Amino acid sequence: MVAAYFDQFNIIPIFSIWVYGGSIGSPFWINGEFFCVSNTLFMMSFAVFLFYTIGAKGVNGGSLIPNRVLTGLELIYSHFYTVLKDNLGNKGGNYLAFVLSLFILILFGNGLGLFPYVFTPTVHMVITLGLSFAIIMGTTLSGLITFRLNFFSILMPQGAPLALAPLLTAIETLSYISRAISLGVRLAANISSGHLLFSIIASFAWKMISTGILVGSFVPFAILIFVTILEMAVAIIQAYVFTLLTIVYLRDTVELH
Ligand SMILES: *[C@@H]1O[C@H](CO)[C@@H](O)[C@H](O)[C@H]1NC(C)=O
Repeated sequence: MVAAYFDQFNIIPIFSIWVYGGSIGSPFWINGEFFCVSNTLFMMSFAVFLFYTIGAKGVNGGSLIPNRVLTGLELIYSHFYTVLKDNLGNKGGNYLAFVLSLFILILFGNGLGLFPYVFTPTVHMVITLGLSFAIIMGTTLSGLITFRLNFFSILMPQGAPLALAPLLTAIETLSYISRAISLGVRLAANISSGHLLFSIIASFAWKMISTGILVGSFVPFAILIFVTILEMAVAIIQAYVFTLLTIVYLRDTVELH
């Protein structure tokens, strides 16, 4: 019974593409399951597809007058452009496409998951940690390429006494590495605990109805409606927090403090 609360997080295959063939012994020889589309992959692809569909509506036949969709998209676009310029200076604009894609992917992953029976890809740490580790590895490589060995100066706070250097660099190195973990864990933990809350309260309400406590079941239903509204806000907030922290971490690639 308890395990049922976690059933909503199961990664299951939706369909597989089976490939038999290739000349035997060649590097491209495949015999068996080649490509499996899981509910995770499906939902993330659907999020991208949905955004393209919405974006196509915004193009409005090439009209110069923006419609409602385009106005909404431009609001998101110009907001992140301003945040990037404020945090990273003029070079910030280079990251606009990346930051926008990240925000849209997480926002749609969280948001679509609020519909009943829809799988939420962002509840899995393999997805969120995959994103956050890729981001931190990317900023580290980009910083090393831009500043060469000077990049390591971010591990020593400016103006600190030299005697404390061994201790401070150790602490700063730890905090630099833990960025990758905290960024991913924050998103997955918050979204999955929200979904657990849904299923626990809903099963509580269902049990009250099925045992004949009809009037009393109003209380868990009222809580469920409140939690739903809260989770709608959390879906947007967590996508925004993830993106904003990514922008802060990207600052290391354009300037050393
Ligand atoms: C998720 O995080 C938000 C703050 O960003 C918090 O208000 C909310 O209660 C959290 N949700 C859960 C289920 O922990």
